[in-house]
Amino acid sequence: MIILEALIYILPSYVANSCATLSLSIPILKKWTTPIDFGNSWNSKRILGDGKTFRGLIFGTLIGTIFGFLQYFLAQRIEFDNISFYNNASIEEILLISFLLSFGALLGDIVKSFIKRRFGIKRGRPWPPFDQTDFLIGGIIFSAIVYFPGWSIVLILFIITPIIHFLTNITAYLLKLKSVWW
Ligand code: CTP
Ligand code: MG
Repeated sequence: MIILEALIYILPSYVANSCATLSLSIPILKKWTTPIDFGNSWNSKRILGDGKTFRGLIFGTLIGTIFGFLQYFLAQRIEFDNISFYNNASIEEILLISFLLSFGALLGDIVKSFIKRRFGIKRGRPWPPFDQTDFLIGGIIFSAIVYFPGWSIVLILFIITPIIHFLTNITAYLLKLKSVWW
């Protein structure tokens, strides 16, 4: 099923993005709040804002990459029909694409915050549809260095990601892992 194939491909990006947010609630990590822009401003607006930390970037990239590695390793064993990439990839390729999907997702999120600040939108305020798709755009573009899943999968992902993002955000909000519901 193409939706399953699309999800398996993008899951490391989802995990990286969720773990960046989750890093805020993890006891040993939450005290490390150094922002990536080191608190600097440009034209009297923050470059990125306090919502983009090294903690989130590093933790998200790490967990997303590990997750992707385990998942593709499993997918290789199971031999999904459509997911030929995972069946034929070497361990190095699997590690690389997991890293690119994870790091790219968080870089997409960072670029979004940069643009958001230039438009004068405050950290944490909603900016649809970019808050919902920044990590998707970043993950797809970065991983395309080694693998592009095809336009039909990209289209499916742009349709389902905002829905999944909305549902997980509501859940995270209800679990008090996130302070706003968007
Ligand atoms: N987060 C982080 N480091 C990152 C990304 C996210 O620490 N690289 C954490 C921050 O605590 C952030 C939360 O996850 O507040 C939610 O992430 P996001 O919605 O991307 O950030 P916002 O605070 O909404 O900021 P922005 O308006 O810049 O998107
Ligand atoms: Mg946000």
